[in-house]
Amino acid sequence: MSDIKNRIEDLKKSKNAIILAHYYVPDEVQQIADYIGDSYYLSKIAKEAKQDTIVFCGVSFMGESAKILNPDKKVLMPDITADCPMAHMAQIEKIKEVRNQYDDVAVVCYINSTGELKKYSDVCVTSANAMKIVKALPNKNIYFIPDENLGRYIASQVLDKNFIFNDGFCPVHAEVRKDDVKLAKKMHPNALVLVHPECKMEVLEEADYIGSTSGIINYATDSDALEFIIGTETGVMYELKQKNPGKKFYTLMPHQICPDMKKVTLEKVLECMENESGAVEVTDELRNSANASLDRMLELAK
Ligand code: 13P
Ligand code: SF4
Repeated sequence: MSDIKNRIEDLKKSKNAIILAHYYVPDEVQQIADYIGDSYYLSKIAKEAKQDTIVFCGVSFMGESAKILNPDKKVLMPDITADCPMAHMAQIEKIKEVRNQYDDVAVVCYINSTGELKKYSDVCVTSANAMKIVKALPNKNIYFIPDENLGRYIASQVLDKNFIFNDGFCPVHAEVRKDDVKLAKKMHPNALVLVHPECKMEVLEEADYIGSTSGIINYATDSDALEFIIGTETGVMYELKQKNPGKKFYTLMPHQICPDMKKVTLEKVLECMENESGAVEVTDELRNSANASLDRMLELAK
C-alpha cells in the first residue's frame, strides 16, 4: 500500500498534478488527496487549480464540471465508469416544455447532472449553496432538476417562490425511511441526527441538522454533543473521525454506500496517473454552453 502511495506522490511531482477527492471515495484514496471536500468546494478548487493535471477522485459529473470550469487542464478520472445515476434523471424535452409553460422561470440544476443538462439550465447549485442561490434568483418560478428531494427541501425553506419538481433521486439517500431514523434514535438516544438533503422529506423532518457532506462534518465538529447519527454515504466517516477522535458516529443505515464512488481505488489512481488514462473530454460547444450555469453558481455562491 505504501509503495502505491509513494509512487502516486512521485507522479504528482513529476506530472505537476493535483489530486481532488470527494468524501465518499474510499478512505485510502482520501488519504492521498491534496484536497478533500464536497461538490461545491471541489469545483472551486478545480477552477482555480494551477497544476497541469487534475486527478478527480469522484464520479463523472465532477470530472466533467472540472474540465468545463478549467478547460486548459488535463482532467483524469481513475475510473471513467464511476457515474452518478441521478445525473441522468432529467430530460431536455421537459426543460423546454417547462420554459414554454412558465414566463418567469429559472431552471436550477443540481451539479449532480450531465453537462447536457447543465447546458439547458440557468444556474447550477450544490447542496451547500442551493438555498442561497435560489433565494438570490430574481425569478418567481423555479424548475429544480434532477433531484426532487433536494428541490423539495429548498422549496420548504424558500416560501415566496413557486417550485416545479422533477422526479430524479439518489438511490443511496432516497432509500432511507422515517422508521430507520426512529430505530437509530432508539438505539442511540443521546445522538444528534445529521442528514443530507438528498434524503426524503420524512427523514429530514426527523433530523437535527440538514446539510451537505461538508456541512455535516462541520456541524459535528463544532457541536458540543458527543454522539451523532449520520444520514449520508459512509465515506464521510473518515473525515468525521479524523476531526473528532473523542466523538461517536453511527450510520443511519448499515449499508449506505455509493457503489460508483467506491470504484475509485488507489490502484486506479496510480494507473491513470502513470498512463494518463481516463482523460475527460468535452466539446468546445458543450464547454461554452454549460460553463455559464457553473460560473453563475460560483458567482452567486460567493
Ligand atoms: P455534497 O455536495 O454534499 O458533497 O454531495 C454530493 C453527493 O453526491 C451527494 O450524494
Ligand atoms: Fe450520485 Fe447518490 Fe452516489 Fe451522490 S451518493 S454520487 S447522488 S448516486
